[in-house]
Amino acid sequence: MRSTFSSGIHVAIIMDGNGRWAASRGLPRLSGHRAGAEAVRRTVESAPALGISVLTLYAFSSDNWRRPRNETAGLMKLLARYLLQEADRCVANGVRLEAIGRRDRLPAALIELLEETERRTAGGDKLLLRLAIDYSSRQAIQDAAAKGGDLSQHLGPDVDLLIRTSGEQRLSDFLLWECAYAEMVFTRRMWPDFSGEDLAAAVEEFQRRERRFGAVTARTA
Ligand code: FPP
Repeated sequence: MRSTFSSGIHVAIIMDGNGRWAASRGLPRLSGHRAGAEAVRRTVESAPALGISVLTLYAFSSDNWRRPRNETAGLMKLLARYLLQEADRCVANGVRLEAIGRRDRLPAALIELLEETERRTAGGDKLLLRLAIDYSSRQAIQDAAAKGGDLSQHLGPDVDLLIRTSGEQRLSDFLLWECAYAEMVFTRRMWPDFSGEDLAAAVEEFQRRERRFGAVTARTA
């Protein structure tokens, strides 16, 4: 399954700044998340042409359950709406959707939609879109360790480029194992303002970096 998507790079994004984007406009936080969902659409649309074959988006961390109930419920509804509205376009554009994270605490309707969208998009071979929902990397690593053997077999593909928006510079329990050799790009842009051009700029920055994976190269010898 993974080999279908190994031709391009794996970009993972911590989509941060929805709340601040809304507050700076005097809007409720959920308006920021709604605008964030539009940025997700733009990002997914721009990714394949930039040589991205796997895109992992941090949509809801397990720690996000600590937020007020109206915000977590609103985010769950927004995710469901996204799946309802985008499934056809995913099928038409060869996007395979997959959710990572815990499912047992999600609303039943969202679990059903996730399963249905995963089934419907299973044939997609242009882009693997992984939505991290109720996701904790520590939990994922613990679960993988409990299965035994090589942990990599039970976790996702290595991340090439990690992007975090809004000026924050931390991993927040996202893909800790998979980011072992990830290049990191931090941008001050708030997630709802993130555009295809911003994604292209981050990929260009990534391509300028020299990845050594611990070895020496002509430049460092
Ligand atoms: C972080 O901003 C963002 C989130 C916790 C949620 C991310 C969700 C979306 C982008 C929308 C829905 C997603 C999909 C896939 C359709 P924040 O609220 O922590 O912002 P702040 O740090 O400014 O408060």
